[in-house]
This record gives sequence, C-alpha cells and structure tokens, in this order.
Amino acid sequence: MRSSLKHLKRTTAAGAVALAAFSLLPGTAFASPAPDSSGSVGTKVVGGTKADQGEFPFMVRLSMGCGGALYAKDIVLTAAHCVDGSGPNTDITATAGVVDLEDSAAVTVKSKEVLQAPGYNGKGKDWALIKLEKPIDQPTLKIAQDDKLNNGDFTIAGWGADKEGGDQQRYLLKATVPFVDDATCEKAYGDDLTPGDEICAGKLDTGGVDTCQGDSGGPMFRKDDAGEWLQVGIVSWGEGCARPGKPGVYSEVSTFAADIQKAAGELGA
Ligand code: ARG
Repeated sequence: MRSSLKHLKRTTAAGAVALAAFSLLPGTAFASPAPDSSGSVGTKVVGGTKADQGEFPFMVRLSMGCGGALYAKDIVLTAAHCVDGSGPNTDITATAGVVDLEDSAAVTVKSKEVLQAPGYNGKGKDWALIKLEKPIDQPTLKIAQDDKLNNGDFTIAGWGADKEGGDQQRYLLKATVPFVDDATCEKAYGDDLTPGDEICAGKLDTGGVDTCQGDSGGPMFRKDDAGEWLQVGIVSWGEGCARPGKPGVYSEVSTFAADIQKAAGELGA
C-alpha cells in the first residue's frame, strides 16, 4: 500500500532514489551541474526559471538536501521528513542569502536543535523547525494563519531536481503552480492524501511544472492582500514530478500555524 511504501523509502537509504517514483525522499548530495551549459530559461524547479538574487531572501538550502524558509531569523521551517526526530542537533548546515549555492557571499549557519512535528509518522503533519546556532540577517516569511488565501496561483522555489530523476541544482529555480482542490487531489491520490493536513498544486491537465526531489521542506507561497509573501505550503511529496494528473502535495501551513508558533516558542524563539 502506498503510504507504507512512502514511509519505507523515506526511512531507507538514499539508494532508494532510483525507484522513488512516489517518495518523500529529500534530494541527495548536491550534484553541482554546470549552470548554463544545459537548458535555457523555461526548462528548469521542473518547468521553472532562475530566481533573481534577493527575490526570495527567506529561502534556505539545508545540507541534507532539502529546502526551508526562515520562520524567524534563527528558525527554519522545513518538512518533518527532512529531519530524523527532535532534540539537540548540530549536524545540519543552513545556507542562505544567495541564489547560487557556490556564491562566496553565501551565509552558512549550523543547526542547534530540531523539532519534528509531534506525532509525525509519515502521513500528514509534514513540518519541522530547525533552530539555528545564530540568526541569519535576511527577511523572514510569514506563515498563513487561516485558509483564506489557500487558493489561486502559488510560487514554488528550490534547488531540487529540474526533472524526475534529475540533478540537484546550483541556482535557485522558481515556478508558478495553480491550486488544486482536495476533492480533485483525492481523485489522484486516494487515501494517501490527508486533506486536512495537505494542500495540492500543479497543472493537472498538462503537468510540466512542479517541485521535485530536493525541494522538500521549501515553501510554497503567494502574495497576501498587503502584497507581502505569505507561506501557504511546505513541499512534501508527489507521484513522480510534474506528471499530468499528479499534482504536488504540500503541508497545509494554515492547519499547523498554531502548532508551529507554539513549537517555535519552545525552541526559545
Ligand atoms: N519528497 C520530495 C523531496 O524530498 C519532494 C517531492 C515533491 N514532489 C512533487 N511531485 N511535487 O524533495
């Protein structure tokens, strides 16, 4: 059954990537592909383009091969499946302040503690907080407190694969994906979807635009009524990447806003 398959792949070694048609596995080691040799603008996240330096200053790349967003200057919001559990942890490095991961201006900060969503078991609740050793001097990303803006077009961004089975990226890629309602998403995924915990997005008819392996933990966001970026999702999973009829599945941030706030307080925010 698919949810247990997902769980299995997530908890086994990176060798499972090859068969991870349907997987929560984060991206493996940064492959550092040549930046401009292959693929022009419009062929890249899957179906995205390069983000401008400073365009999404809250974006963070995590050393285990996931994305994240600055919830506070010293707290990264990411996916539960990107971390191993909760407790003191100095093994993760967060890279921020750059679109080019090899830019000498990159700021890198170590983790101090991890808080994985209480009760996380591989289905739903796919969020976690990483407390950093010191603050990063970049703007934070507000999280949605209610479901009012859980609709419309969303921006996705990350350093993950630019196609199913593709390499991790050196440059931050971005794309736009439309909201997919729960009923439609359930038709694609059946019981694997946890509608209260998850929000779907993607081009149902054509596919072609999506997050992919290594984008996990990164934010899905849109403008709020004041024109400010607001996080509505966390990259979680999908069947393959950018397949027609198989939207990307994101943790529904508004569902967890109160829990995230409480957890951040417990991390000494
Ligand atoms: N679980 C993947 C990761 O760890 C993210 C997959 C997103 N897939 C998708 N089709 N949107 O990076």
